[in-house]
Amino acid sequence: MKRTRPTATLPPVRRPPTDGVAVLGTGRLGGAIAEALLAAGHPTCVWNRTADRTGPQADAGARVADSPAEAAAGAALLVLCVGDFQAVRQTLSAAGANLVGRTVLVMTTLTPDEARAAAAVAAEHGASYASVPFMAGYQAIGRPESLLLCAGPREVFDRHQETLRALGGDVRHVGDDPGLGALFEAAVVGFLLEFWAGYLHTLALVRRESGPTDAFASVLQSTLQGLAPLLPVIAGQTVSGDYDPDTFGRLDYLAPMADAMIGLRRSRGIDTARLEHLKGLIDQRLGLGFGGEGLASLIEVIEGSGDGGAGPVG
Ligand SMILES: NC(=O)c1ccc[n+]([C@@H]2O[C@H](COP(=O)([O-])OP(=O)(O)OC[C@H]3O[C@@H](n4cnc5c(N)ncnc54)[C@H](OP(=O)(O)O)[C@@H]3O)[C@@H](O)[C@H]2O)c1
Repeated sequence: MKRTRPTATLPPVRRPPTDGVAVLGTGRLGGAIAEALLAAGHPTCVWNRTADRTGPQADAGARVADSPAEAAAGAALLVLCVGDFQAVRQTLSAAGANLVGRTVLVMTTLTPDEARAAAAVAAEHGASYASVPFMAGYQAIGRPESLLLCAGPREVFDRHQETLRALGGDVRHVGDDPGLGALFEAAVVGFLLEFWAGYLHTLALVRRESGPTDAFASVLQSTLQGLAPLLPVIAGQTVSGDYDPDTFGRLDYLAPMADAMIGLRRSRGIDTARLEHLKGLIDQRLGLGFGGEGLASLIEVIEGSGDGGAGPVG
């Protein structure tokens, strides 16, 4: 008589990954991502903690999984768009053994340390990992000008960049360290906060004089276009230590310029705190005898003014 093993004792069967993509978390970002993948012709499975929020993606042709493990079972590539780091960790743990051999791309906003920790969790489960911050709002998913950063092993980027192009036309590998994407994302946000604060202060000055803000905005727009190419130049100077004064002027020319701007704003009742802080940095360099250097030399006081020993962000 032919003997059969009882099914209860059979080892779990792991289905090999298909070419499909699974999107875990169909909130605003994940929903838009799943729909863009479907529109680009990728067989797409979705899972969401609250199951009835997958309706629009199901209507667009997505297969709906009941659990992260089921989603991972049929997909070579998993894209996580859940709310935060805890949610990423829980979702990866729930996918468990079905992560073996898969690639996990996390689009959740994380700190650099969280991104590295998420990569470690993925590795424990036998999966490759990259962090993929999307550098715009979810409405911009799928546009040719939209920028995605990919931080993780180069081969992960090479293998999946075509798929990522369905989400944004400008996909860039920023390095093998999975924390780099989060670092760049946080750095851009910090820059933009200061940028908009500066813009509002200058708008306030124009408005105090009843100047036409639309004409001013247009002038500033043209000015900024000319300045954008200087970003890599200044970055290079902070690395080389060669603070060329021709890039944006010598510090001993910029100091009286800053004083004049502070005086003008103050005379019109506009806050001067941020400009005074900048003037303080310039003065420190002047006090050390570096008035002939360019603006980039302020990096030395900026880097010297923090606690310097707090360790990595996050
Ligand atoms: N929205 C954007 O434009 C944008 C752009 C760039 C980056 N991001 C980042 O993308 C991430 C998602 O943003 P979002 O705007 O899509 O948020 P959202 O619309 O609030 O959606 C959050 C998603 O995370 C899920 N979730 C939350 N906690 C969870 C948990 N513990 N376990 C499993 N799933 C969980 C939610 O499931 P439920 O439906 O069950 O609550 C939902 O699918 C955030 O980290 C955000 O910073 C968003």
